[in-house]
Parts: sequence; C-alpha cells; structure tokens
Amino acid sequence: MLTTKEAIERRRSIRKFKAKPIPEDYITELLNAARLAPSGCNAQPWRFKIVEKPDIKAKLAQAAYDQAFIATAPIVIVCCADIQGYLDGTVSGAQDLGKIAAIEDRIVTILEHKAERLKTVERDELGPRIAANVAIAIEHIVLRALDFGLGSCWIRLIDEQRVREMFEWDDSIYVVALLPLGYPAESPEARKRLQLRDILID
Ligand SMILES: Cc1cc2nc3c(=O)[nH]c(=O)nc-3n(C[C@H](O)[C@H](O)[C@H](O)COP(=O)(O)O)c2cc1C
Repeated sequence: MLTTKEAIERRRSIRKFKAKPIPEDYITELLNAARLAPSGCNAQPWRFKIVEKPDIKAKLAQAAYDQAFIATAPIVIVCCADIQGYLDGTVSGAQDLGKIAAIEDRIVTILEHKAERLKTVERDELGPRIAANVAIAIEHIVLRALDFGLGSCWIRLIDEQRVREMFEWDDSIYVVALLPLGYPAESPEARKRLQLRDILID
C-alpha cells in the first residue's frame, strides 16, 4: 500500500492500457474511496456509471472529441453530478450538521437560503458549480487506484450533452468527466509543474 505522499508523487495521466481485466472488488474499493470524499453540506452529489462494453466505450471516446485511447481502457467510469440530489442534500445535510453542532445555526440558515437561491439557477450553470464536489471524489478514485497498480486519466474534454443522451439520462444529471481506468502500458515521466513560489499570491 502506498502512502498518500507516494500516490500523489507517482500518479501520472495514463493513456495506454493493458488489456488485462480489473477485478470487481477493486472497483468496489475505488467507489468506496469516492463515497468517502468531502462535499458541501455533505450533499454527496457524485454518481458513477461503470462502462465495460466495447461499443459503449467507443461511443464515449467519440463523445470526447475522438480521444480514441479512452476506448482501449478495460473500464471507463462516467463521473456525474446529480443536480437534484445536490439541491435536496444541501438542505438536509446542513440541518444534520447543525443538529450535531458541527456548524453554527447561523451557518445552517445561510446554507438554507443559499440552497433556495440555487433552485433558481439554470441547470447549465449549476452542473459546473456542483462539479467541484464530484472532482474531489474522482481524485480519490484516481489516487486509490494506484494501490492496485491501476492508472487512469481525467477526461473533461467531452460533449456533455452527447454523453448524457447516450445513456438517456435526464438533465438532472451533469456529466463531469470520464475516467478511463486500467493497468498502465506506459510509464510517463512526471509532467512539468509550477514551482512553489509561482503558486503563491502576494
Ligand atoms: C480537469 C481535467 C481535465 C482533463 N482532460 C483531459 C482530456 O480531456 N484528455 C486528456 O488526454 N487529458 C486530460 N487531462 C489530463 C491532463 O492533461 C494532465 O493531468 C496534465 O497534463 C498533467 O499530467 P499528469 O496528470 O500526468 O501529471 C485532464 C486533467 C484534468 C485534471
């Protein structure tokens, strides 16, 4: 098992995969890692679809502007936000946090008002906003996958509507990213990163 530091440092975006299948219990572990992610008001808006069928993976690759490598992964996880689930979960989650005094009553009230205002926001604006929560869960999957020797690559360059229509999901689902996953068939060098001094604002 890797330490968190090792996982963070060793992770690479993997775009070449072995054909070797992924054991089902690994997938369960990855979804558990996602489930444990933090989220605003503990609303937990992440939803996942595991795709193994070659024809569906090929369609996903097409919907990602023909990033063909996606279809070569044994599994593609379609990572989504449940917009309605988020709206409902924000209010109940804030109230639950208030009951256990994790947050002040004053903050619960602010969050309830915020949730009320969110209901008036257009779906196309809400999806990307809620996506921040889903992104944390996705990165949990990405990092935990390294414990099983698995690699993945975030895919955000997607035609969101096309992916949603493929599965006949209504517009309460916002597709955040695809995550092709498998045993790496490449060992890329670390990509360039900004220096510490470059990421601090005066
Ligand atoms: C939000 C997000 C979207 C990304 N979308 C794509 C994508 O559509 N296609 C792709 O090949 N890589 C994609 N990447 C991978 C990045 O290119 C990669 O993380 C970056 O080049 C740094 O390389 P590394 O992940 O190996 O450190 C994405 C990464 C993130 C975090």
